[in-house]
Amino acid sequence: MGRCSWHRHPAGPCGLEAGATTAAVELLREGEVVALPTETVYGLAADALNPLAVAKIFEAKERPRFDPLIVHLPDEQWLERVATVDERSRAQIKKLIAQFWPGPLTLVLARQPIVPEIVTAGLETVAVRMSSDSVFAEIISAFGKPVAAPSANRFGRISPTTAQHVFDELSGRIPLIIDAGPTAHGIESTIIAVLANRIDILRRGPITAEQLSEFGTIHIAAGGGKISAPGQLATHYAPKTPLRLIDNAKTFKPKEKQRVGLLAWNTFAPEERRFAAVRTLSEHQDLLEAAANLFRSLRELDDLDLDLIVAERVPAQRLGAAILDRLERASHGSDN
Ligand code: TXA
Ligand code: MG
Repeated sequence: MGRCSWHRHPAGPCGLEAGATTAAVELLREGEVVALPTETVYGLAADALNPLAVAKIFEAKERPRFDPLIVHLPDEQWLERVATVDERSRAQIKKLIAQFWPGPLTLVLARQPIVPEIVTAGLETVAVRMSSDSVFAEIISAFGKPVAAPSANRFGRISPTTAQHVFDELSGRIPLIIDAGPTAHGIESTIIAVLANRIDILRRGPITAEQLSEFGTIHIAAGGGKISAPGQLATHYAPKTPLRLIDNAKTFKPKEKQRVGLLAWNTFAPEERRFAAVRTLSEHQDLLEAAANLFRSLRELDDLDLDLIVAERVPAQRLGAAILDRLERASHGSDN
């Protein structure tokens, strides 16, 4: 079966041929971890109701146990088996689910005892979502139970948007990576908590504050000083190369002999030789395309052994706010 074998430690990601999805379901049943595509980023999945299986996620990612995982549901019927919906919020939650599920919206709700503590890191709440990715949906519905799935990267690093990214970070540690091509959204799901009419955005993502504002009063908890989701740690999404946010590359001059890579939002003249490498987020300044390209472009620049990456700020509205949030975290800790 060559590269695509689901015996331990395959030599590469598996395409959808050769019964790979069936193998993923079998591995989940056996309490193993598998890397799966979702519509946001690739996830590292295990049976959410099996604490030993979930422990393998933490081991493979080197993720600290205080950081809780998102539980992905096979269907809406599972919602109130893993979570309790507060009566004051029920109407709002129902509307949000009707509008955005399946899709990149994660809800933080009170947890039911069926969810093992290792999943929620001992919190009384659980984060739940339902992915709209067709491969993910096929696998989880065949499995028939919720799966816990964080992004399939080593802890603190950039989330994977291709199966190859997962392979680069986790090969030798997990038995199967399902390759269904680059993910659609390219950034992780929006995380919210709902209390009556109030919607707290804990992590910005593909479902924007503007979209959510039709469903309640928005409060942005993301990006503030207080950490409400541990994944909001300031150093998340860190490339190895120092990264600095700038307004416009036109006015940026690298120091002598400094090899600088540019992550561009604005159109950039290719004859410019100031930059050692340039990646443009979207030729047409389309925020959807920019989000989908963000992590891949960052990884590519990070692999070039540059002295510095400069990233142009994108507009702060709609999806731009979620992109900026990732860039700010990627630049944290770089004093450049
Ligand atoms: O798009 C996504 O959400 C991807 C795909 C794979 O589904 N998953 C993902 O998972 O981004 P992860 O583990 O990389 O990020 C989940 C975030 C973390 O910041 C975690 O702290 C937060 O969700 N989280 C999980 N449970 C929580 C809870 N009960 N309360 C607050 N935050 C929670
Ligand atoms: Mg993550």
